[in-house]
Amino acid sequence: MDAQALQHQALAAVARASTVAELDEARVTYLGRKSELKLALRDVRDRESGMALNAAREGIEAAVAVRQAELERAELDAKLTTERVDVTLPAELLARGEGRPLRPRPRGSLHPSTQVRRDVEDIFLGLGYEVVDDREVETTRYNFDALGFPAWHPARSPRASLFLGDDTVLRTETSPAQIHKMESQRPPIYMVSIGRVYRRDTIDATHYPIFHQFEGLAIDQGITMADLKGTLLHVMRALYGPERDVRFRTHYFPFTEPSMEPDVSCPICGGAGCRTCKQSGWIEMGGSGMVDPYLYEFVGWDPDEFTGFAFGMGIERTAQLRNGIPGIRPFWENDLRFLRQF
Ligand code: DAH
Repeated sequence: MDAQALQHQALAAVARASTVAELDEARVTYLGRKSELKLALRDVRDRESGMALNAAREGIEAAVAVRQAELERAELDAKLTTERVDVTLPAELLARGEGRPLRPRPRGSLHPSTQVRRDVEDIFLGLGYEVVDDREVETTRYNFDALGFPAWHPARSPRASLFLGDDTVLRTETSPAQIHKMESQRPPIYMVSIGRVYRRDTIDATHYPIFHQFEGLAIDQGITMADLKGTLLHVMRALYGPERDVRFRTHYFPFTEPSMEPDVSCPICGGAGCRTCKQSGWIEMGGSGMVDPYLYEFVGWDPDEFTGFAFGMGIERTAQLRNGIPGIRPFWENDLRFLRQF
C-alpha cells in the first residue's frame, strides 16, 4: 500500500475510535513497531518514498494526538456527570456506595416536653434570665429544710417522696434550685431552672412518678408582687397566645409569703367554659409567691435588703394544654404513634 493510502486508512480508523482504548488500538496498528508503516520505513530505499512515508507518519501522529485530547475530555465529562457526589445524600448511603436513597429517610422530631422546655428557655432568656441546670438527687436539707418545710410536712414522708437514704431524696420539686442559686450568687438574681422531679405517685391518667417543672426566681431591690404578676402574664401569653389573662388565688407554700396559685384563662375555650377548665374558664398553673424572708436568712443575707418572687410550673402540663393532650402517661411511654404527632 502506498503511503497516502495508508495514511487515509489510518485517519479513518482514528476518526472511528470512540474511546481512548480504541484509539490506542488504532495507534498500535498504524504506528506501532510492527505496523506496515514502520516496517516500510525500515526498508526504505529512496529519498522520495522515505519522505512520503514520514509525512504519512506525522499526519497520523497529529491526528491521534488531536483525537486523544477529544476523547479524554469526553470521558472526563462523562465521569464527572455520572460520578458526581451529591452532597445532600446521607453520609451512610454514600459510604455504602449507593447513589440514591431507596426512600426518603424520616426526620425525627423533638419530644413534646423538650419543645416546651426550649420555648420556656427562650422566653426567659428574652427576659434576661439565666437558665440553670440543677441536681436531681438532693439532700433533705435543700429539698425541705432550706425551703421551710416543717418537720411534720407530709412531703417528708417516704410514702410521698422517693428517698435514696435517710438524708437524700430525689428532688420533689425544682425549688431547691433557688437555694443553690442564692448560695452561689448575691442579687440581682434572675434565673429559671428546668428539670425532672420525682414523687411517689401511683400512675394514672394525670399522675406519673416523674415529671418536669420549671422554676423561676427573681431577687433584687424593690421587687413587688406586681412584677411577679407582670412576668407571669408575659410568660403565659408567650406560651398560650396574646389573648390570655392571669389571675391569682391565695395559697400556701412553705417558702413564699404571701403565696399564690396563678390561673391562666383557659387556652382551649378562651374563658367561656369547657371540659378542660371544668367550666370555670380558668386553669391552675402551679405555684408562686414572694420569697419568704426565711430563705434570705438561711443563706446568710439581711432579709431587709432584698425582695423577690418565685414560681414553679409543670412542663408536661404546659404541653398538654398547648397540644390538647389529655393525660401525662404518653409523655413517658415513648410510643412513636404519639411522638410522631409533634
Ligand atoms: N414547688 C411547688 C410545687 O411543686 C411549686 C411552687 C410554688 C414553686 C411556689 C415556687 C413557688 O417557686 O414560689 O408544687
